[in-house]
Amino acid sequence: MAFGDYQNEIYFRGLGGVVPDLPMRFAELRERAQAALPPSIWSYVAGGAGDERTQDANVTAFDHWGLVPRMFVGAKERDLSLELFGMSLPAPVFMAPVGVVGLCTPDGHGDLATARAAARTGVPMVASTLTVDPMEQVAAEFGTTPGLFQLYTPTDRELAASLVRRAEQSGFRGIVVTLDTWITGWRPRDLATSNFPQLRGHCLANYFTDPVFRAGLAKPPEQDPQAAILRWIQLFGNPLTWDDLPWLRSLTDLPLIVKGICHPEDARRALAGGADGIYCSNHGGRQANGGLPALDVLPEVVAAADGAPVLFDSGVRSGADIVKALALGATAVGIGRPYVYGAALGGVDGIVHVLRALLAEADLIMAVDGYPTLKDLTAEALRAVRG
Ligand SMILES: Cc1cc2nc3c(=O)[nH]c(=O)nc-3n(C[C@H](O)[C@H](O)[C@H](O)COP(=O)(O)O)c2cc1C
Repeated sequence: MAFGDYQNEIYFRGLGGVVPDLPMRFAELRERAQAALPPSIWSYVAGGAGDERTQDANVTAFDHWGLVPRMFVGAKERDLSLELFGMSLPAPVFMAPVGVVGLCTPDGHGDLATARAAARTGVPMVASTLTVDPMEQVAAEFGTTPGLFQLYTPTDRELAASLVRRAEQSGFRGIVVTLDTWITGWRPRDLATSNFPQLRGHCLANYFTDPVFRAGLAKPPEQDPQAAILRWIQLFGNPLTWDDLPWLRSLTDLPLIVKGICHPEDARRALAGGADGIYCSNHGGRQANGGLPALDVLPEVVAAADGAPVLFDSGVRSGADIVKALALGATAVGIGRPYVYGAALGGVDGIVHVLRALLAEADLIMAVDGYPTLKDLTAEALRAVRG
């Protein structure tokens, strides 16, 4: 079945008088998610760094490019599938790591919901280090869909090694090390409500269940959560340097992907130092305001990666955005906030709907515009929008 067939399901159900109860437009998805979430969680998810210009620019950057339709192609069948780090994926799309998605579903187990949505759609989840449920339980919900583990590298190397070991044992297929969040960016919305979920003990399951972390505590987290949170604060952020890369590399034989790379020289150096893939992202504008949109730096990062896989996220809101990012050289495109909004509205079903809608739109654009396969999507498919 083609991804675009999702529209047939919806239209045919309509013949029986059934209209979708989940939003079809991103603006409505966002509005309804805001209404569904408690205000503090909403601002944590929707907000970003500073006055959020970089976050907004991530989204509007896509408007600067237009896809050029080609006719007489007969793109009746599309093939979006790809092989990535030994994984066979139905489409070049994945769910970006989102700590606190755990708090966003009505049942408070959003990481499990995300994993179940991955199982249902074949779209892989990159599971954050910051989850409500421990990684072993998250991975157990993946079904046959592969998953990746995102590591926030703690200052304690033994704890880092333990988290990676657990990820390997749980069946994760790659380790994504996030480099841009060893310190939290300046986030006015969260500051205005003095709200930082982890400081309240949320989403720390991977730490609280970890044998190395627990061994460093006088009392287990169940008996003295405050002390455990304090210990987490001490350990969380490691300002890594290039000198740490050989050690990171030595932690695992799984594919190592470095997230937050926005400069070609950083891409080259990371790959030369043993990384298997680059993840071009500015964390959705949540970390440093005043930055370039991630989409604008993607082509130079892709050129520097010289054929190595480049994952991309930041600002993807539609199927058209997915197609544009692919045409600019992304190997696979990460969905961030949109699936979290889906989680807020409908748990697993909400996430599945958001993913299927995005994939359907991407597939139908490739059909209409005459780009039936991923290799047809090159920079030739795009023109800069004038004005
Ligand atoms: C609420 C929230 C929490 C996030 N938590 C993480 C995280 O734990 N680890 C990580 O590497 N990135 C995290 N990110 C960044 C995402 O992986 C991704 O880079 C970002 O959402 C892309 O921007 P977009 O959602 O605007 O498209 C988070 C993003 C959001 C919105």
